[in-house]
Amino acid sequence: MKQRIAFLCILALLLAVGSFANAQDEELTGELEIFSWWAGDEGPALEALIDLYGEMHPDVEVINATVTGGSGVNARAVLKTRMLGGDPPDSFQVHAGEELTGTWVVADRMEDITFIFEEEGWYDVFPQDLLDALVVDGAIYSVPVNIHRSNVMWYMVDNVEEWGIDVPTTWAEFLDVCPTIQEAGVVPLVVGEAWTVNHLWESVALGVLGPEGWNSIWTGELDPAGAEMVEVWETFGDILACTNMDVDASGLSWQQATDAVIEGDAAFNIMGDWAAGYLTTTQGLEPDVDYGYAASPGTDGVFMWLSDSFGLPVGAPHPDNTVAWLRLLGSLEGQNTFNPLKGSIPARTDAVDAEPDLYNAYLQSTAADWSEDVLVGSLAHGTAANERFMGEFNQVMEIFLASGSAEAAASAMGAVCIQSGACG
Ligand code: GAL
Repeated sequence: MKQRIAFLCILALLLAVGSFANAQDEELTGELEIFSWWAGDEGPALEALIDLYGEMHPDVEVINATVTGGSGVNARAVLKTRMLGGDPPDSFQVHAGEELTGTWVVADRMEDITFIFEEEGWYDVFPQDLLDALVVDGAIYSVPVNIHRSNVMWYMVDNVEEWGIDVPTTWAEFLDVCPTIQEAGVVPLVVGEAWTVNHLWESVALGVLGPEGWNSIWTGELDPAGAEMVEVWETFGDILACTNMDVDASGLSWQQATDAVIEGDAAFNIMGDWAAGYLTTTQGLEPDVDYGYAASPGTDGVFMWLSDSFGLPVGAPHPDNTVAWLRLLGSLEGQNTFNPLKGSIPARTDAVDAEPDLYNAYLQSTAADWSEDVLVGSLAHGTAANERFMGEFNQVMEIFLASGSAEAAASAMGAVCIQSGACG
């Protein structure tokens, strides 16, 4: 009798294990709508991931829903309407950090996906700084697909050589060389539409304040309306005078601004390393040979980071398909498919070593910097501050551009800090 009971117990256990395995392997069907701003020439890395998903789950119809516009300026507005209107996509692009936690998690719009990290063993493969930016009260809310660097200065190797200029390592050096470049009929530093000006601002602020000063804006230790911030705005104003700001900036996408550097109409560009993806994947140029890169002036040894991630919104119509998508994003294969095309490094710490040949000289050097540099979060790309701050920071910038007053901008930023609760 005892033997029989033992046999039945073992049988029951085997059946249970079998059905769990079946549940995992079960053929997925229906749709998967992925929402992002990776359209046009920002698209190849995402498309490669979608192809991989299609091979793994051929019966799922993937809808690649993109809204064009660098840094998600348009996509985030559409997303907000959809989320508030009860029409979430199955998964959407969201920056790790405050854009995720201080915007969507705090509003109870994201599902807890801790179980995926536990089942996949991901606590050991993602760096702690990054995990911290995905967690609220011990629960995890998105899967990071990459790490991008915001504070990078780009140039064409042959052009700077021809013009006989050294790549500036401080903003003071840049301002010194600015007139020489202008006399050669070249724009010293190209900017584009509004968000790229905010992007430049964060590199300038980091250069002036240093990493501790930058971080202390967000902990409340640095007065956003105080003397240090006035100095940031003053320096920023001097730098803007060396750009195309009043000529054609507002009509240029970040790609068109990068084109100005490629074509020799501009000497430098401060942009995140999606520019490396554009220069390499779209333009077929080679790092160190055709294009060069350096930390933005005054920020050597500091890595201003951001991470694109995807989660599972509350009320997503096809959650099983989303979970399979998220498992792919965090896998070695997913990360090594996406990042070499995107110009970013994998969020997983084991991915570059697993297939180093996939990563070009720029990405190898950035991966090394990521593991050695001081890390600080990007404002323009959602790591450091919530959406409310970002939205209102646009007005601070408008005040500065209209008045030219560093004091007025610093004072407006102080008010925005209080209203958004983003500064400690
Ligand atoms: C960033 C995003 C990058 C890239 C860039 C330009 O916010 O994290 O992946 O898409 O915008 O659009």
